[in-house]
Amino acid sequence: MNDLSEPTTPYVFWFTGLSGAGKSTVANALMEVLDKECKWRCIQLDGDILRTGLCSDLGFSEEDRHENQRRLREVVKLLLKTGTNVVVSFISPFAHDRQIAREMLEDKQFIEIYVNTTLEQCEQRDPKGLYQKARAGQIKEFTGIDSPFEVPANPEIEISGAGTTPDQSVSKILTYLKELEA
Ligand code: ADX
Repeated sequence: MNDLSEPTTPYVFWFTGLSGAGKSTVANALMEVLDKECKWRCIQLDGDILRTGLCSDLGFSEEDRHENQRRLREVVKLLLKTGTNVVVSFISPFAHDRQIAREMLEDKQFIEIYVNTTLEQCEQRDPKGLYQKARAGQIKEFTGIDSPFEVPANPEIEISGAGTTPDQSVSKILTYLKELEA
Protein backbone atom coordinates (compact mmCIF):
# COMPACT_ATOMS: atom_id res chain seq x y z
CA MET A 1 0.00 0.00 0.00
CA ASN A 2 1.37 3.36 -1.02
CA ASP A 3 0.68 6.47 0.98
CA LEU A 4 2.20 9.33 -0.95
CA SER A 5 0.73 12.61 0.17
CA GLU A 6 -0.72 14.80 -2.53
CA PRO A 7 1.70 17.51 -3.70
CA THR A 8 0.77 21.18 -3.34
CA THR A 9 1.81 21.80 -6.95
CA PRO A 10 0.34 19.11 -9.19
CA TYR A 11 2.59 16.96 -11.35
CA VAL A 12 2.40 16.16 -15.02
CA PHE A 13 3.59 12.64 -15.81
CA TRP A 14 4.38 12.81 -19.51
CA PHE A 15 4.75 9.31 -20.95
CA THR A 16 6.33 9.15 -24.39
CA GLY A 17 7.29 6.25 -26.62
CA LEU A 18 6.35 4.31 -29.72
CA SER A 19 2.87 2.97 -30.34
CA GLY A 20 2.59 -0.35 -28.50
CA ALA A 21 5.55 0.45 -26.23
CA GLY A 22 3.39 0.06 -23.14
CA LYS A 23 2.75 3.72 -22.26
CA SER A 24 -0.96 3.34 -21.57
CA THR A 25 -0.45 0.15 -19.57
CA VAL A 26 2.05 1.75 -17.22
CA ALA A 27 0.02 4.98 -17.12
CA ASN A 28 -3.08 2.96 -16.14
CA ALA A 29 -1.11 1.21 -13.41
CA LEU A 30 0.20 4.55 -12.15
CA MET A 31 -3.35 5.89 -12.06
CA GLU A 32 -4.41 2.91 -9.95
CA VAL A 33 -1.88 3.93 -7.33
CA LEU A 34 -2.29 7.71 -7.44
CA ASP A 35 -6.06 7.73 -7.81
CA LYS A 36 -7.26 4.63 -5.99
CA GLU A 37 -4.62 4.13 -3.31
CA CYS A 38 -3.32 7.64 -2.65
CA LYS A 39 -6.60 9.43 -3.44
CA TRP A 40 -4.84 12.15 -5.38
CA ARG A 41 -6.87 14.39 -7.61
CA CYS A 42 -5.65 13.11 -10.97
CA ILE A 43 -6.69 12.36 -14.51
CA GLN A 44 -5.26 10.44 -17.45
CA LEU A 45 -5.17 11.86 -20.97
CA ASP A 46 -4.58 9.13 -23.54
CA GLY A 47 -3.80 9.80 -27.22
CA ASP A 48 -6.07 7.07 -28.49
CA ILE A 49 -8.96 8.44 -26.43
CA LEU A 50 -8.49 12.14 -27.20
CA ARG A 51 -8.32 11.23 -30.86
CA THR A 52 -11.89 9.90 -30.66
CA GLY A 53 -13.21 13.29 -29.50
CA LEU A 54 -11.32 16.54 -29.00
CA CYS A 55 -8.78 15.62 -31.70
CA SER A 56 -10.95 13.47 -33.98
CA ASP A 57 -10.37 15.86 -36.89
CA LEU A 58 -6.61 15.25 -36.80
CA GLY A 59 -4.53 12.74 -38.69
CA PHE A 60 -0.88 11.80 -38.37
CA SER A 61 0.93 14.32 -40.57
CA GLU A 62 3.63 16.27 -38.77
CA GLU A 63 1.37 19.32 -38.76
CA ASP A 64 -1.54 17.43 -37.24
CA ARG A 65 0.67 15.85 -34.59
CA HIS A 66 1.89 19.32 -33.59
CA GLU A 67 -1.73 20.47 -33.36
CA ASN A 68 -2.60 17.37 -31.33
CA GLN A 69 0.15 18.30 -28.88
CA ARG A 70 -0.90 21.95 -28.77
CA ARG A 71 -4.45 20.96 -27.78
CA LEU A 72 -3.09 18.49 -25.28
CA ARG A 73 -0.99 21.21 -23.65
CA GLU A 74 -3.98 23.52 -23.44
CA VAL A 75 -6.05 20.83 -21.70
CA VAL A 76 -3.17 20.10 -19.33
CA LYS A 77 -2.95 23.80 -18.45
CA LEU A 78 -6.65 23.96 -17.62
CA LEU A 79 -6.47 20.85 -15.48
CA LEU A 80 -3.46 22.12 -13.58
CA LYS A 81 -5.41 25.26 -12.68
CA THR A 82 -7.86 23.03 -10.85
CA GLY A 83 -5.01 21.42 -8.94
CA THR A 84 -5.31 18.14 -10.84
CA ASN A 85 -2.27 15.93 -11.42
CA VAL A 86 -2.17 14.82 -15.05
CA VAL A 87 -0.94 11.55 -16.53
CA VAL A 88 -0.34 11.94 -20.27
CA SER A 89 0.03 8.91 -22.55
CA PHE A 90 0.60 10.07 -26.11
CA ILE A 91 3.36 9.06 -28.50
CA SER A 92 4.56 12.72 -28.42
CA PRO A 93 7.17 11.99 -31.10
CA PHE A 94 8.71 15.44 -31.39
CA ALA A 95 11.28 16.75 -28.92
CA HIS A 96 10.24 20.32 -29.64
CA ASP A 97 6.64 19.72 -28.55
CA ARG A 98 7.77 17.96 -25.39
CA GLN A 99 10.11 20.87 -24.70
CA ILE A 100 7.27 23.40 -25.00
CA ALA A 101 5.27 21.36 -22.49
CA ARG A 102 8.24 21.25 -20.15
CA GLU A 103 8.79 24.99 -20.39
CA MET A 104 5.19 25.88 -19.62
CA LEU A 105 5.54 24.14 -16.27
CA GLU A 106 7.46 24.82 -13.12
CA ASP A 107 10.75 23.19 -12.36
CA LYS A 108 10.25 19.54 -11.27
CA GLN A 109 6.56 19.66 -12.14
CA PHE A 110 7.10 18.01 -15.51
CA ILE A 111 8.14 14.38 -15.32
CA GLU A 112 9.03 12.98 -18.70
CA ILE A 113 8.81 9.20 -18.71
CA TYR A 114 10.31 7.51 -21.74
CA VAL A 115 8.96 4.02 -22.29
CA ASN A 116 11.87 2.63 -24.21
CA THR A 117 10.77 -0.30 -26.30
CA THR A 118 12.52 -1.08 -29.57
CA LEU A 119 10.65 -0.92 -32.83
CA GLU A 120 11.22 -4.66 -33.22
CA GLN A 121 9.60 -5.36 -29.84
CA CYS A 122 6.63 -3.11 -30.64
CA GLU A 123 6.20 -4.76 -34.01
CA GLN A 124 6.34 -8.19 -32.45
CA ARG A 125 3.64 -7.26 -29.96
CA ASP A 126 1.58 -5.25 -32.41
CA PRO A 127 -1.45 -5.23 -30.07
CA LYS A 128 -3.66 -3.33 -32.51
CA GLY A 129 -2.31 -4.89 -35.73
CA LEU A 130 -1.22 -1.42 -36.86
CA TYR A 131 2.44 -2.21 -37.57
CA GLN A 132 1.37 -4.99 -39.90
CA LYS A 133 -0.86 -2.55 -41.75
CA ALA A 134 1.89 0.07 -41.84
CA ARG A 135 4.37 -2.43 -43.28
CA ALA A 136 1.79 -3.42 -45.87
CA GLY A 137 1.43 0.23 -46.83
CA GLN A 138 -2.19 0.39 -45.65
CA ILE A 139 -1.37 3.05 -43.03
CA LYS A 140 0.89 5.93 -43.93
CA GLU A 141 3.06 8.08 -41.67
CA PHE A 142 3.27 5.47 -38.96
CA THR A 143 5.61 6.36 -36.11
CA GLY A 144 8.84 4.40 -36.30
CA ILE A 145 8.14 3.23 -39.86
CA ASP A 146 7.73 6.29 -42.05
CA SER A 147 7.27 8.99 -39.43
CA PRO A 148 9.97 9.90 -36.89
CA PHE A 149 10.17 9.34 -33.17
CA GLU A 150 12.74 11.59 -31.53
CA VAL A 151 14.14 9.75 -28.55
CA PRO A 152 14.16 11.90 -25.38
CA ALA A 153 17.66 13.09 -24.58
CA ASN A 154 17.14 13.61 -20.87
CA PRO A 155 13.93 12.07 -19.56
CA GLU A 156 13.39 12.22 -15.82
CA ILE A 157 12.59 8.51 -15.90
CA GLU A 158 13.31 5.81 -18.44
CA ILE A 159 11.42 2.57 -18.37
CA SER A 160 12.27 -0.50 -20.32
CA GLY A 161 9.00 -1.43 -22.00
CA ALA A 162 10.01 -5.07 -22.47
CA GLY A 163 10.99 -7.35 -19.62
CA THR A 164 9.64 -4.99 -16.97
CA THR A 165 6.24 -5.49 -15.38
CA PRO A 166 3.89 -2.52 -15.02
CA ASP A 167 4.27 -2.84 -11.23
CA GLN A 168 8.06 -2.59 -11.50
CA SER A 169 7.72 0.45 -13.73
CA VAL A 170 5.32 2.12 -11.32
CA SER A 171 7.70 1.38 -8.43
CA LYS A 172 10.44 3.19 -10.31
CA ILE A 173 8.18 6.23 -10.75
CA LEU A 174 7.13 6.19 -7.10
CA THR A 175 10.74 5.98 -5.97
CA TYR A 176 11.52 9.01 -8.10
CA LEU A 177 8.55 10.87 -6.60
CA LYS A 178 9.55 10.02 -3.05
CA GLU A 179 13.04 11.36 -3.71
CA LEU A 180 11.60 14.57 -5.15
CA GLU A 181 9.38 15.06 -2.12
CA ALA A 182 12.07 14.15 0.42
S1 ADX B 1 0.88 11.50 -31.49
O1 ADX B 1 2.02 11.13 -32.37
O2 ADX B 1 0.03 12.53 -32.13
O3 ADX B 1 1.32 11.87 -30.12
P1 ADX B 1 -1.16 9.85 -30.36
O4 ADX B 1 -0.59 9.37 -29.07
O5 ADX B 1 -2.16 10.96 -30.33
O6 ADX B 1 0.02 10.17 -31.39
O7 ADX B 1 -1.89 8.63 -31.09
C1 ADX B 1 -1.18 7.45 -31.29
C2 ADX B 1 -2.11 6.25 -31.49
O8 ADX B 1 -2.84 6.39 -32.70
C3 ADX B 1 -1.30 4.98 -31.64
O9 ADX B 1 -1.10 4.33 -30.40
C4 ADX B 1 -2.14 4.14 -32.57
O10 ADX B 1 -3.09 3.41 -31.85
C5 ADX B 1 -2.89 5.15 -33.40
N1 ADX B 1 -2.36 5.40 -34.76
C6 ADX B 1 -3.08 5.31 -35.90
N2 ADX B 1 -2.35 5.68 -36.95
C7 ADX B 1 -1.12 6.01 -36.49
C8 ADX B 1 0.07 6.49 -37.11
N3 ADX B 1 0.14 6.72 -38.43
N4 ADX B 1 1.16 6.72 -36.33
C9 ADX B 1 1.09 6.50 -35.00
N5 ADX B 1 -0.01 6.05 -34.35
C10 ADX B 1 -1.12 5.82 -35.09
